[in-house]
Amino acid sequence: MNEKQTTGHPPIRPGRRPLVERTERATVGRASLEDPRMSCRNVSVFYDSKKAISNITLDIGRNEVIAMIGPSGCGKSTFLRCLNRMNDTIDGCLVTGQVIMDGKNIYDDDVDVVPLRAQVGMVFQKPNPFPKSIYNNIAYGARIHGLVRNREETDELVVGALKRAGLWSEVKDRLEMPGTSLSGGQQQRLCIARAIAINPEVILMDEPCSSLDPIATAIIEELIDELKQNYTIAIVTHSMQQASRISQRTAYFHQGDLIEIGPTEQIFLNPLHQLTEDYITGRFE
Ligand SMILES: Nc1ncnc2c1ncn2[C@@H]1O[C@H](COP(=O)(O)OP(=O)(O)OP(=O)(O)O)[C@@H](O)[C@H]1O
Ligand SMILES: [Mg+2]
Repeated sequence: MNEKQTTGHPPIRPGRRPLVERTERATVGRASLEDPRMSCRNVSVFYDSKKAISNITLDIGRNEVIAMIGPSGCGKSTFLRCLNRMNDTIDGCLVTGQVIMDGKNIYDDDVDVVPLRAQVGMVFQKPNPFPKSIYNNIAYGARIHGLVRNREETDELVVGALKRAGLWSEVKDRLEMPGTSLSGGQQQRLCIARAIAINPEVILMDEPCSSLDPIATAIIEELIDELKQNYTIAIVTHSMQQASRISQRTAYFHQGDLIEIGPTEQIFLNPLHQLTEDYITGRFE
């Protein structure tokens, strides 16, 4: 963490050792952060003239789960949407800075957002299955992206995605039923299966468990833990318990600034910044 990332708020408290750089590498793995999956450089977002996030610079390691936490309105969702250009869909929204993936800025003029959003998939707060059958919720995107040529390939892809999302055994006898007939937790796993089906490398999750009960939440958390073997996951959560259970690193946002980022354990047990400590000890929501 360097000073550039902490502008506008009180500095790191004196007497605390700057542990982040050293322990980050130890926890996430050297190769992972030296060859990050995505690199954000000075990313700012404006809604009309109002700045929502300011000069965010951070790397997302390969196959890590990185959690974004912070008070309501601090810019977590705005930042997450920068990673697959979902902010492009919002009128009056301007993104500056760079998000580098595979050596290319995803904001370059020649980047096609359709394959980008397949490569960097998204799961939203409220499960949002298409008004289609369970089968077609998954097959639809795969067909649009030209990933399947016939029914046999489609079947294989649908079954594979449902298995990886931990939903197969619960839906294998009802694939033609509407996706909306499932429980909330099942619908969210269907949405994860839908994202997985189009071969993403990164999955963005914006409070994916906030509408789920504790059992459904636990199932999704287990799933996230398994998915990190094959995918990089960036998750926004209001639950500090959830961040500490599932993420390797945590980023704390406050009023549009990235205050600190580091190994999750360090952020919760030994934060470098007063604002982070105030948040994690519940001094403000
Ligand atoms: N579509 C929009 N148009 C205008 N302003 C917006 C829009 N979306 C977000 N904002 C503003 O940008 C700031 C950051 O919002 P954002 O939704 O990213 O916060 P958040 O950290 O995700 O909050 P929450 O925890 O409540 O979901 C807020 O001040 C919000 O009002
Ligand atoms: Mg949000």
